[in-house]
Amino acid sequence: MTKGFLSLSRFSRFGLVASVLVASVACRGQKSKNPPIHPVLNMDFQHHFKTQEGSSFFEDGRAMRPKVPGTIARGELVGSEELRTGKAGGEYLQESPLTVTTELVKRGQDRYEIFCTPCHGSAGYGDGIVTKRGNLPPPSFHDERIVQMPVGQLYESIQAGVRGNMPSYANRISVKDRWAVVAYMRALQMSQNADIDDIPEDVSREKGWK
Ligand code: HEC
Repeated sequence: MTKGFLSLSRFSRFGLVASVLVASVACRGQKSKNPPIHPVLNMDFQHHFKTQEGSSFFEDGRAMRPKVPGTIARGELVGSEELRTGKAGGEYLQESPLTVTTELVKRGQDRYEIFCTPCHGSAGYGDGIVTKRGNLPPPSFHDERIVQMPVGQLYESIQAGVRGNMPSYANRISVKDRWAVVAYMRALQMSQNADIDDIPEDVSREKGWK
């Protein structure tokens, strides 16, 4: 074996020894408590600031730069202020800023069933599966207080969450979908207090109810 190694050309012997060395130095992927070896430094030790760290470079002493006033995340500026906030001149809207169509209500039902039923239950009685595991039970949407609640306030509950007991859904439900959910909540409320005349003629005829 030694003979075999010696019989290799000088160049191949150098190559073999070099590759064994490189393999033992660059042991990436192996567990070790020691800090990794940095044969190539690149930007490994570049000076940087951590989140919330101070810096004497800026006058306000903060390394994180505040956003330019009025900055809006891409894709966030949708429609009018009323549409986005559910308020006009500081007052909750009493009517949806979107035209309520069957399509919108169905979209609302789809979103409601995904995001709201776990706590509020499929008919809005506040009896979702989560409440059976000891979580704070939400109020029923059929309580007089919530039946009377302006649509703008229902919208705001989805957008901002409620008193820290219900999370905000703003990052999961788009502005238009929030209004769709509100439309569906109104449909749910009506459904618990409806009489036969509230059902559109064509639907009741189709179902054979009239
Ligand atoms: C993780 C459970 C949970 C989910 C999911 C949830 N809610 Fe709630 N919701 C609550 C709780 C708890 C309250 C009661 C909060 C309180 O009164 O402090 C509440 C209250 C409300 C209220 C009443 C607001 C008020 O001012 O009293 C509305 C309206 C509402 N939720 C709508 C929704 C809608 C729409 C969805 C789906 C987009 C939803 N919630 C999803 C837990 C939830």
